[in-house]
Amino acid sequence: MAEFALPKNSKIRSKGKVHKAAPDATAVKPFKVYRYDPETGENPRYDTFEVDTATCGPMVLDALIKMKSEQDPTLTFRRSCREGICGSCSMNIDGRNTLACTKAIADVKGEVKITPLPHMDVIKDLVPDFTHFYAQYSSIKPWLQTVTPPPSGKERLQSPEDRAKLDGLYECILCACCSSSCPSYWWNSDKFLGPAILLQAYRWLADSRDEMTGERLDELEDPFRLYRCHTIMNCANVCPKGLNPAKAIAEVKKMVVERQV
Ligand code: SF4
Ligand code: SF4
Ligand code: FES
Repeated sequence: MAEFALPKNSKIRSKGKVHKAAPDATAVKPFKVYRYDPETGENPRYDTFEVDTATCGPMVLDALIKMKSEQDPTLTFRRSCREGICGSCSMNIDGRNTLACTKAIADVKGEVKITPLPHMDVIKDLVPDFTHFYAQYSSIKPWLQTVTPPPSGKERLQSPEDRAKLDGLYECILCACCSSSCPSYWWNSDKFLGPAILLQAYRWLADSRDEMTGERLDELEDPFRLYRCHTIMNCANVCPKGLNPAKAIAEVKKMVVERQV
């Protein structure tokens, strides 16, 4: 049986720091937050932040911003829109990949445990390294590709029916919650594109205006890039936008089969 050894500096060894709430706090909730700073050479740890939810916004991102503003300015995480649109604040909260800005603190009973997205390299604290993920996104050429000029030099129109085929696809915010919860992607992310990127690939295959369907399918038809999906469905279960990457992957597989008959 294969044995895996974690790098020495990946193991959690120390108990971490405790950041106490102010003495006049009235509704203290503990947050256990993963901390890692490669520049210190220290192993990762979990710090405990006592947050007064009576003086905090309702979402986990509000609590993280409060911790950073009032308790530890070195706490590092990504965020931008604060309304589930940019995909920056994806992380694992209470054992599930999701967006910190749309996850209500009240939905977590007891201590709120926060870690970076699993199975991705960590740059610092809750910030994972998306370099490989974005390189895979770039590899599927996520833009409209055409050969013929637009009719009489005008824009390329779609019927309402064709436009509707992009529903459930265009809403993806590339947060990687799905890919980083996919067991196949954990073990084969060097070659398997994973649910997020395959959903994006299907977004362009499903676009009535795109004229590179054959070339796109040629690129995807591969035992690893496409066929490492074993329909485990974690991706659809976890997507914070309610999308179904597994269904999109099934559609791509269907297109591959149908062009062969
Ligand atoms: S499909 Fe959902 S979980 Fe996956 S990247 Fe897109 S929005 Fe995030
Ligand atoms: S359905 Fe496919 S892509 Fe989604 S989690 Fe399962 S193996 Fe991964
Ligand atoms: S901050 Fe943009 S999705 Fe959470």
